[in-house]
Amino acid sequence: MGNDKKVIFSGIQPSGSLTLGNYLGAIKNWTTLADEYNCYFCIVDMHAITVSKEPKDLRKNTLEVLANYIAAGLNPDKVTLFIQSHVSAHAELGWVLNCLTYYGELGRMTQFKDKSKKQQNSNITAGLFTYPSLMAADILLYQTDLVPVGEDQRQHLELARDIAIRFNNKYSKTFVVPEPYIAKIGAKIMNLQDPTIKMSKSDTNDKSYILLTDDDDEIRRKFKRSVTDSLGIVKLSNDQPGIKNLLGIYSKITGETIESIVERYEGKGYSIFKDDVAEVVVNELRPLRLKREELLKNKDYLQEVFQKGAEKAENTARKTLRKVYKKVGFIPRY
Ligand code: TYM
Repeated sequence: MGNDKKVIFSGIQPSGSLTLGNYLGAIKNWTTLADEYNCYFCIVDMHAITVSKEPKDLRKNTLEVLANYIAAGLNPDKVTLFIQSHVSAHAELGWVLNCLTYYGELGRMTQFKDKSKKQQNSNITAGLFTYPSLMAADILLYQTDLVPVGEDQRQHLELARDIAIRFNNKYSKTFVVPEPYIAKIGAKIMNLQDPTIKMSKSDTNDKSYILLTDDDDEIRRKFKRSVTDSLGIVKLSNDQPGIKNLLGIYSKITGETIESIVERYEGKGYSIFKDDVAEVVVNELRPLRLKREELLKNKDYLQEVFQKGAEKAENTARKTLRKVYKKVGFIPRY
């Protein structure tokens, strides 16, 4: 891991089984960037508790996300895989950045508005509100150049950039100002039952998402029942959000261009197309599922990975935090 390489940071919440959206919008891109960058991929358990979680589920999901990272091809000898709560600098910098983030900015975050609406405005925690400053801390601790995420994280990332710039202006240059990396295809995988909204594991209808834990037949069934339209022509159009979504999924996994896929399905019905999309997804996710299941049987190995990852992450994070503490005027203990 050369120090001259640019830095990538990204993370996923262990708040349930991951979806095809998490995989195509985030993890799959990470695997293509891993050789070129100095990468930190985190499991953001502290973000996960911003909405109430069953402790045993959180523990299980955290290890599952780690196993997914490795199963998808992220090599723990080459990239740093770690659990957010293991590196206390995240919480510490998060607090400092909280004191530099405005109430109005946090209130404008669409994810906060959506999530608090879902909780019907009751039991909305301060953690959910200040979630984006902790996310900024995650990113800024590693002097990150690039943050590969799905489209739904764009606004959080813009806030992280604003906070970095604000800190640099107030206390002198301290943080690298990170850039988003949002792929053209796959950055917003849509809900299979309502293709006008994004696929999300928190949806109440389990036919609306593909989970990385779904077996082959479940995946096939969900695609068969996916909502499309009555036009019957496979083409890329905003008036056909269901088909557009399926085209995106197909293209993202196979690497084939949308134009070429559309050409191949000319004159064929939706049913053939849906079955073929399902097969492409089944073939992509099956090896991942098998590898993940195997990894989850070897808890000692997973522990070794997250311990080594936390050590590496801690080294870098501490350096940044020390600088920040000094700049804001905290007296060093030693
Ligand atoms: P989270 O856990 O909601 O999602 C993890 C990643 O998956 C992407 N994603 C999607 N991409 C395409 N289509 C979808 N339907 C879809 N659903 C989710 C997300 O954009 C994300 O990249 N706040 C973050 C976690 C986080 C983080 C960070 C990310 C915490 N600190 C620092 C980057 C850098 C979140 O809740 O992602």
